[in-house]
Amino acid sequence: MSERTPDISPAGDDTLLTHVGNRPRDNFGVVNPPVYHASTILFPTVASLREAEVSRARFSMVTYGRQGTPTTMAFEEAVARLEGADRALALPSGLAAIAASLMAFLKTGDHLLMVDTVYGPVRGLCKRLLADFGIQTTYYDPAIGERIGGLMRPETRVVYLEAPGSLTFEMQDVPAIAAAARARGATVMMDNTWATPLFFKPLRHGVDVVIEAATKYMGGHSDLMMGVVAADHDRLIRIKSAAHMMGHAAAPDDCYLALRGLRTLSVRLERHQKTGLELARWLQVRPEVDRVLHPALPQDPGHPLWKRDFGGATGLFGVVLKPCAPEALEAMLDGMALFGMGYSWGGYESLILPVAPQASRSATRWDAAGPTLRLHAGLEDIKDLKADLDRGFARLNAGKGAQDP
Ligand SMILES: Cc1ncc(COP(=O)(O)O)c(C=O)c1O
Repeated sequence: MSERTPDISPAGDDTLLTHVGNRPRDNFGVVNPPVYHASTILFPTVASLREAEVSRARFSMVTYGRQGTPTTMAFEEAVARLEGADRALALPSGLAAIAASLMAFLKTGDHLLMVDTVYGPVRGLCKRLLADFGIQTTYYDPAIGERIGGLMRPETRVVYLEAPGSLTFEMQDVPAIAAAARARGATVMMDNTWATPLFFKPLRHGVDVVIEAATKYMGGHSDLMMGVVAADHDRLIRIKSAAHMMGHAAAPDDCYLALRGLRTLSVRLERHQKTGLELARWLQVRPEVDRVLHPALPQDPGHPLWKRDFGGATGLFGVVLKPCAPEALEAMLDGMALFGMGYSWGGYESLILPVAPQASRSATRWDAAGPTLRLHAGLEDIKDLKADLDRGFARLNAGKGAQDP
């Protein structure tokens, strides 16, 4: 695509969210960019066909549907601007974005340092696919900070972060880890899905490649699967080449929906943040709750790092309950009216999920005595959410009572 959004820099994030990727003057005045469905792209002359061949390695033109259409590029441009990156690449899921980034930078004999609290399915990728290709993974404690240097080997090529951690929400000292990793020549990658580029911009803190599961807050409506990677030009081209060789292509309809989701990201996050924090504080003083895992709470061990580096908190957090019978927990969760049980998050609706952190960690221990729940604060009225949880706790307590002699 030749033209980018008319220059609106310097622009704040809200202005970018509102305008970037739109070109009404090129589209009959229509505000939103059209959805281009395309496999075949036609070239009028042999000379233009040759030009496309040359440009293909740089991914600078629309030459074939798998390389992206103008709809894909509008979304990628928006994300690149928000992250402060040269370029971005849309992929068919968040996991595809993680896999393509790792595969692009690792080869047989290389070593990967992976945070222990990484999104669970990434462990499968490391244990099976990467291990089968002769790539070794070492998991590290998210609290490691600059001591990461002690785990680095001459063949360590990638250091991978995710903060806060999946399921248990531990923060990481991103600048300290990134500086130590870069000093030893490794590429630093970070999954920034929780914060989104609105609340944390990893590339400004020493990260080289930022990965977002656009399935979550960017899409925001629980109706699409997408991932996106942002980096400087050379690193992005390397990842795009790998993704292209593996045949990944994000669907134009999903790119359209993700770009539409971005338009309201800021206002949605404001509400997710407010409701999430209010629920977290309310849960902190419930007698059934042992502790709340939320880095924006001053009592959380990750709070100083969150406060130093992040500009806000989104709506996903954890709760550790006091020990209870499994049947009592089931009675609580089965009867929820507003909180749904499901594996994703970042949509407009509230969610609650029993999770098993101990099953997906190897470098650290999770030794909570009671069950852990992951909550997503949606956009509903807070009083209704509290009432739903209140009724849930009543069922939990009734279940406990049934156990008593
Ligand atoms: C933190 C995080 N990263 C990545 C992913 C993967 O995204 P997707 O489901 O789009 O593959 C998820 C999904 O839940 C996630 O929670």
